[in-house]
Amino acid sequence: MKLFVVAGARPNFMKVAPFLHAIARHNQRCVAGNGALEPLLVHTGQHYDIMMSEVFFRELNIPTPDVNLEVGSGTHARQTAAVMVRFEEVCHRDRPHWVIVVGDVNSTMACTLVAAKLGISVAHVEAGLRSFDRTMPEEINRLVTDALADLLLTPSADADENLAREGVPREKIHRVGNIMIDCLVANLARARARRAPVRLGVEPGRYAYVTLHRPSNVDCRESLEAILENLVRLSRDLPVIFPVHPRTHKALEAFGLDHVGAPGLHKIAPVGYQDSLCLTENARLVLTDSGGLQEESTYFRTPCLTLRPNTERPVTVTEGSNRLTSLEALAGDIQAVLNGPERLGRVPDLWDGRTAERIVQVLLKNGTP
Ligand code: UD1
Repeated sequence: MKLFVVAGARPNFMKVAPFLHAIARHNQRCVAGNGALEPLLVHTGQHYDIMMSEVFFRELNIPTPDVNLEVGSGTHARQTAAVMVRFEEVCHRDRPHWVIVVGDVNSTMACTLVAAKLGISVAHVEAGLRSFDRTMPEEINRLVTDALADLLLTPSADADENLAREGVPREKIHRVGNIMIDCLVANLARARARRAPVRLGVEPGRYAYVTLHRPSNVDCRESLEAILENLVRLSRDLPVIFPVHPRTHKALEAFGLDHVGAPGLHKIAPVGYQDSLCLTENARLVLTDSGGLQEESTYFRTPCLTLRPNTERPVTVTEGSNRLTSLEALAGDIQAVLNGPERLGRVPDLWDGRTAERIVQVLLKNGTP
């Protein structure tokens, strides 16, 4: 059975890695190749900088992509269209039985649209998440992808309920768990050994780890400036490690805010996957607007403040260590975290490192469409 596995942007790589490794393990168990799966890895090239892409392939032992569509950056329409045009050609050339997409980036939606129109079955890993906020580009990507996918592989019960409410037949929905956690569990020992906090000159448990890249936070001068003021203030009490995403970097330059800083505010280049895990596990506080970091913080039970009015990952709030915050509430919420316990919440069900195995089983059961 031939599978196209699609990855395009940074948060996709830690989701395809465990899946590709689970396929390899399955294939090793197949006698004389009987029942083997044939994955072909398609990188759309949505992210292309070494620290946004290549470093993840190296660290996560992801094979070199079979195809790179090299679409690069652009407006939503241009980027989505470029992926569609180039992915369609690949599908015509080498027609797969399944297209597997992960997450909610533009590449996810673009490849789903192409496959659905060519009558190729689509499986969506991380289906059913909803922020109910259509100003987020990812929410549009999630809605379109889930409306078209044939198999909806969900991480949590809230996702199943969202899909059922939208009229998705129950038999298409399979709760398989959180595949990001497969990657985390597989990399934890190596991540710890890298001792990122020590290398960056901060004491484990005595720093804040900050990542920000959402357009709603960084594309507007006022909000970016207000966030920076909070970080400068926080850094007087607690060192702040702030790897700057390319989008944020460009915004800081465009708004003339790149000079804003303080001795304790460490603005650094984006970090690799394992360093990010290690920084999350050992932080006193995580401040983020990323989806993945809300989940990784929850796994480590590290207190996390998410600078967004909503989250498509509500279990990180109801069960985990996450709390939503706003520019107005930020200073008070930071103080509350610093006055509170160092570990919070519990690890949700099916965050057990076995999600990729379950996905392989679901695909085998569904067979050649
Ligand atoms: C994308 C995803 C977002 C995800 C984020 C993680 C969509 C709609 N957004 O946002 O869901 O959380 O990735 O990083 O798919 N750039 C570089 N080098 C790169 C990639 C991007 O410099 O390797 C710069 C370019 O100026 C580009 C900008 O970053 O225009 C934004 O990149 P883009 O892929 O459009 O969206 P992200 O903000 O990275």
